[in-house]
Amino acid sequence: MAEQFLGLKLPSPRAEIRTIKPCPTLQGEIILPGDKSISHRAVILNSLARDRARIDNFAPGKDCLATVRCLRALGVKIDRKGSPNSHTLLLSGAGEDGLEEASNVLDAQNSATTMRLLGGLLASQPFLSVITGDASLRNRPMGRLIEPLRLMGAEIWGRGKDSFAPLVIKGKRLCGIDFTLPVPSAQIKSAILLAGLFAHGNTVIHQRVPSRDHTERMLRRMGASLESQGSSISLLPLSSPLIPVNLCVPGDISSATYFLVAGVIHPNSRIVIRDCGINPTRTGIIDVLLAMGARLKISNERLEADEPLADIVVESSELTGTEVSGNIIPRLIDEIPVLAVAACVAKGKTVVRGAGELRVKESDRIATVVSELSRLGAKIEPLPDGMVIYGGRPLLGAEVDSHFDHRLVMSLAVAGLVAKGETTIKHAHVAQVSYPTFWQTLEQLIGSLGAG
Ligand code: S3P
Repeated sequence: MAEQFLGLKLPSPRAEIRTIKPCPTLQGEIILPGDKSISHRAVILNSLARDRARIDNFAPGKDCLATVRCLRALGVKIDRKGSPNSHTLLLSGAGEDGLEEASNVLDAQNSATTMRLLGGLLASQPFLSVITGDASLRNRPMGRLIEPLRLMGAEIWGRGKDSFAPLVIKGKRLCGIDFTLPVPSAQIKSAILLAGLFAHGNTVIHQRVPSRDHTERMLRRMGASLESQGSSISLLPLSSPLIPVNLCVPGDISSATYFLVAGVIHPNSRIVIRDCGINPTRTGIIDVLLAMGARLKISNERLEADEPLADIVVESSELTGTEVSGNIIPRLIDEIPVLAVAACVAKGKTVVRGAGELRVKESDRIATVVSELSRLGAKIEPLPDGMVIYGGRPLLGAEVDSHFDHRLVMSLAVAGLVAKGETTIKHAHVAQVSYPTFWQTLEQLIGSLGAG
């Protein structure tokens, strides 16, 4: 039976439908889950290190837990404890002993980062691996992973003429390559670097457009011989195991964005976001929101294990439409669904181009964002590589669907906060993929302002 809590109806945890209504105010301070991209890398790289490591504020979503399960199946000892919002991992890196062959198929679930990063690593390990995922992941492109790994000498195959998972990998000693990334993908870049750690000879990667650089930062910190010069990265194979790194993972800017957008589009809001990662390869959304007129302040900038973080305060703002294209796209690719919600509320037209990658995410995010925001009364048109949003029209509550995409469900919840009437979201449980406490945090912001 659904429970009514101010603007939100809270169904039992297993229920898949959420109902959202506009609320009078949105205010408070939030603590974010740890960054998903950094968490994947922290547990994978520390699993290869020569000693014990501790990772605090490890991302609690299902994607990162899939990586932990796969690494355990590969023989890494990982203890996990903590609260629903934040986990601590204590792990003993495999070091000189190396990883072990898993006795069963590895399951990356919904997580392309798990599949692609582990795909690169396992191609260079001396045993057989089979890795699969859920229906969405089994439909996402894996040729882009298989091709560069084969150039390194890998024996790796996929379903559909080497296009899709499951992947079968007969690991062996690879050779370094000099490779230009055809798409600006941090997952493929990281997969090649992981393979290159155990290869004969140097690996050099050229990026036409830079993508998130968490792997490079962490590898350098852990003693790998890696240099970034302009748009190229050069890595020497490991001569001894990586040095473990203890860290407290900065808050996830992709998760923060739901509240940045909620804060700017809600007419009566003030939200304080603590300890948010602000790595410049991830902050495209902040640049775009500021260009649209967002009242957003960044303070207390600092570093944690070579990753920058800060506190952010966001308040109700008057937004104007904008154009988003070019090199900024990889810096905000995961934030485009919720940016589209901001664009619906902004005055004037917003155009997103050069974001064809959205079509191969957890859902075809051009098609699903357009279809679901249209149901809420938005005027939004798809482009082959983006979308056009005509802002300033009121959104109207309706029944919408997450398409089993975590980023879409949270974007629709933000839209529901400003849509007239009730918005009902089907398959809302998928927020757990990256942000298991999303609904509680939203409830807290509605509640604390309501109480004030
Ligand atoms: C990620 C890279 C991006 C991003 C994904 C996480 C990562 O994907 O969309 O959510 O952690 O490396 P691509 O590498 O496919 O661009």
